[in-house]
Amino acid sequence: MKILITGANGQLGKELVRRLHGTDCLATGSAEMNITDQRKTIQVITEYEPDVVIHSAAYTNVDGAEANPDVAYKVNAIGTQNVAAACLKCGAKMVYVSTDYVFDGTLGRAYNEFDQTNPQSVYGKTKLAGEILAKHIVNKLFIVRTSWLYGDGNNFVRTMLKLGQEKEELRIVNDQYGCPTSTKNLTEVILRLIETEHYGTYHAASIGVTTWYDFAKKIFQISGNSIVEVVSQTTQELGRPAPRPRYSPLDNLMMEHTIGNIMRPWEEVLEEYLDTKRNE
Ligand SMILES: NC(=O)c1ccc[n+]([C@@H]2O[C@H](COP(=O)([O-])OP(=O)(O)OC[C@H]3O[C@@H](n4cnc5c(N)ncnc54)[C@H](OP(=O)(O)O)[C@@H]3O)[C@@H](O)[C@H]2O)c1
Repeated sequence: MKILITGANGQLGKELVRRLHGTDCLATGSAEMNITDQRKTIQVITEYEPDVVIHSAAYTNVDGAEANPDVAYKVNAIGTQNVAAACLKCGAKMVYVSTDYVFDGTLGRAYNEFDQTNPQSVYGKTKLAGEILAKHIVNKLFIVRTSWLYGDGNNFVRTMLKLGQEKEELRIVNDQYGCPTSTKNLTEVILRLIETEHYGTYHAASIGVTTWYDFAKKIFQISGNSIVEVVSQTTQELGRPAPRPRYSPLDNLMMEHTIGNIMRPWEEVLEEYLDTKRNE
């Protein structure tokens, strides 16, 4: 199976490249294929003739998107439209990676794939626009929504480990609930799905619910940092530009009924991730 990856230098992209090493795979970053350039995107993808395109490239700066909506729409909506058009041209299956931020976080329980989207942030709106555009163009489409992603790159776990070495006290938001998910587990889901023809929308998050505050405490507990004090704060006190969903854990309902729910409790996965980091 020939696989083309967009966003190969990102967190998820790097994990996909690592897993697909030694297979027939083309890894593209923005230098090789800027997805906002339609001509180039169609050229690169159709020349390679992949069986599957895993589209993980995105404008992921949630607060930055509030100040630069045009850039965010260009990459997440138009860029996705370009990738989808190329997939249609060469008959490739497409995986579009999306986010829990397409929900408003007011439902009061974990969101399944059939719950109403209602993004509140520009980032969430642009990612939903990408979903809609891809659906209009490609039939052989997997939309895979994930949340609070961490792997090799800039992420909350890395930031906590770094700040934990520099500060004695950290104020962390304790009123946003979600589920941390590792790129390793997400990659496993994507690679299983592309073997199938179970096209559609999937939620793929680790099992369980936490807040950023409890997530931070767990990171320090597992990594043996007993010096830093984690202090609870509210979203309002933090005052970030982009609104975030208050409660957006994802229910992996469709995964459960197709390939089986292969996700594991988030604490277990975090422990493994920190173990690997310790041995690096
Ligand atoms: N991070 C999260 O917490 C989270 C949560 C839910 C869903 N997601 C979704 O999961 C996917 C992967 O996220 P991630 O955390 O791995 O992202 P990331 O680390 O921020 O990487 C995104 C990649 O997108 C590429 N990119 C940006 N603009 C591009 C353009 N115009 N053309 C081509 N490539 C471009 C960048 O490539 P270069 O480095 O080559 O410039 C970058 O490496 C994204 O679709 C994201 O929306 C992420």
